[in-house]
Amino acid sequence: MALTVTPITPRFGAELSGIDYSKPIGADDRAAIIDAMNQWGVCVLRGTGFDNKSHIEFSRNLGHLETAPAVKNRPRRHPDDAEIFDASNLTPSGEILVDENMVLHKKGDRLWHTDSSFMTMRSSYSLLLAYEVPKVGGRTHFADMRSAYEDLPDDIRQVVDTGEAEHSLWYSRLLAGFPITIEEIDGRPKARQPMSIRQEATGRTAIYIGSHALDVVGMPRAEGHAFIKNLIEFATQPQYVFEVSYQPGDMVIWDNLTTMHRGGDFDIFNERRDMRRTTVREGAAPEQADDPFTEYFAASVPEN
Ligand SMILES: [Fe+2]
Repeated sequence: MALTVTPITPRFGAELSGIDYSKPIGADDRAAIIDAMNQWGVCVLRGTGFDNKSHIEFSRNLGHLETAPAVKNRPRRHPDDAEIFDASNLTPSGEILVDENMVLHKKGDRLWHTDSSFMTMRSSYSLLLAYEVPKVGGRTHFADMRSAYEDLPDDIRQVVDTGEAEHSLWYSRLLAGFPITIEEIDGRPKARQPMSIRQEATGRTAIYIGSHALDVVGMPRAEGHAFIKNLIEFATQPQYVFEVSYQPGDMVIWDNLTTMHRGGDFDIFNERRDMRRTTVREGAAPEQADDPFTEYFAASVPEN
């Protein structure tokens, strides 16, 4: 059966059906998925039946997969599947997290952002698979950064066309209430990114910004904060956004280079959310094995 693409909004987001998830996908389906991603930015795949292994295997069709960081004193939930980034509110043993700092850390994911913009090596696709979904909330909201770019007022677009921003994971954590100061953030690694990215496949350009962005290069800090905030507000107006709700087994693929997203609000202390993500690096696979996320966290968190 051929792959069917059903748009969610007229220009942004689509549901894909007709893929047989029980076996490796063929070259035609792979090409059709990449075409759909280029056109729609976010694709929803219902009822995949994937587990960690098949999630990883499927994701490899889209490029080189990042390895989730090994963080000191924080055991992985999925130690046998290093490509799985945990997006749950659960401890490694499966209980709901109550550690206040970890809760605040994860709360940063509920601000508008694009994955890995704080890394010099950016991510293209994220593939998020639902295992356990809160009864209320537990959604993901998406914003269309290409349409927003196309509608920008001229004076703002000129800044975005040539400007750069500095990104830090820790800035979105600070915005979410995590106990860290701007001085501490300044002492940790940052990534300098353009504020717009042209997508070769379509010739369209997207705003590249989000809550990890803390400075506009060359602007006083307060002015940069205001510029970034306004840009995020502009791009998340109702005409650019939609939300996805999940059933277990559903997967969403988004292109981090043309979209922003944020996790939906839910009752984090009483409801379980088990979502797991694989992350595709932009561009070609590295020639030698590397582990940039582990390096990033090792450089960020002081030895103790
Ligand atoms: Fe995210």
